[in-house]
Amino acid sequence: MKILGLSGLHASMSFKRTHWPGLDEREYRMSQGHDSAAALLVDGEIVAAAAEERFNGRKHTGEFPVQAIGFCLAEAGLSMHDVDELAHGFDYSKYRRLLSLDELSRQRYQEVYSKEALLGLVEQHFDGFPLERVHQVEHHDAHAASAYYTSGWDACVVIVIDGMGEAQSITAYGSLASSPTCGRRVKSAMDRGRLSSSIHAPKSS
Ligand SMILES: [Fe+2]
Repeated sequence: MKILGLSGLHASMSFKRTHWPGLDEREYRMSQGHDSAAALLVDGEIVAAAAEERFNGRKHTGEFPVQAIGFCLAEAGLSMHDVDELAHGFDYSKYRRLLSLDELSRQRYQEVYSKEALLGLVEQHFDGFPLERVHQVEHHDAHAASAYYTSGWDACVVIVIDGMGEAQSITAYGSLASSPTCGRRVKSAMDRGRLSSSIHAPKSS
C-alpha cells in the first residue's frame, strides 16, 4: 500500500491578498495552510518526506506541494499512478455551512477549503489520477496519527496543540489498547479512545 500525504492550503493566502488588499504582511500570514509538504509511506514505512519551501524557495509556502510530491516519488522510484491513496491533512466538509454564511465566505470555502478545490489541484498537476483515491483527513487527526503511529506506544495519550486545525486549537486523544496491536485494531482503538472534545480556536488557553 502506497500512501501519499499532503499538507498546505494552496489558495489560502492568495485569496486573502486578492479580496483584502492593502493589509500588513503579518496580517496575510494570519491564514490557514502554511508549510505545505508531502510524505510517502510504502507498506507502513516512511520512505520520503519534504517541504515545498525547499523547492520553490518561498518560506512557509502553502502552495500545492507538487515539487515535494515529485521528490518523494523519485526517492521511491514510483510514479503518481502507483499511489493507492492520497490524503490531505485538512477536512473542512463539516464546516461548509458555517464557512459559507455570506458570499465572500462561500467563495473562500469553494476556492480554498473545499474538497472540490483539492480535486482541482490534483487534476491540474496529475491529470488522470483517480479522484476516488483522494481523501481528506481532519487536521488534528492527522497530527495525532503521525505522532501515534510513529511513537512505538500502544496505550498512550496524544495531545495536539497547534496554531489551528479546521476550527480547533487543542485536541486530546487516547489509545486505550492494552496489548500490542497493529493496523486496523490500533486505528479503531484510537478512534474509540478520543478522550475529550476539542477546545476551539481562538480559545487556546
Ligand atoms: Fe497543524
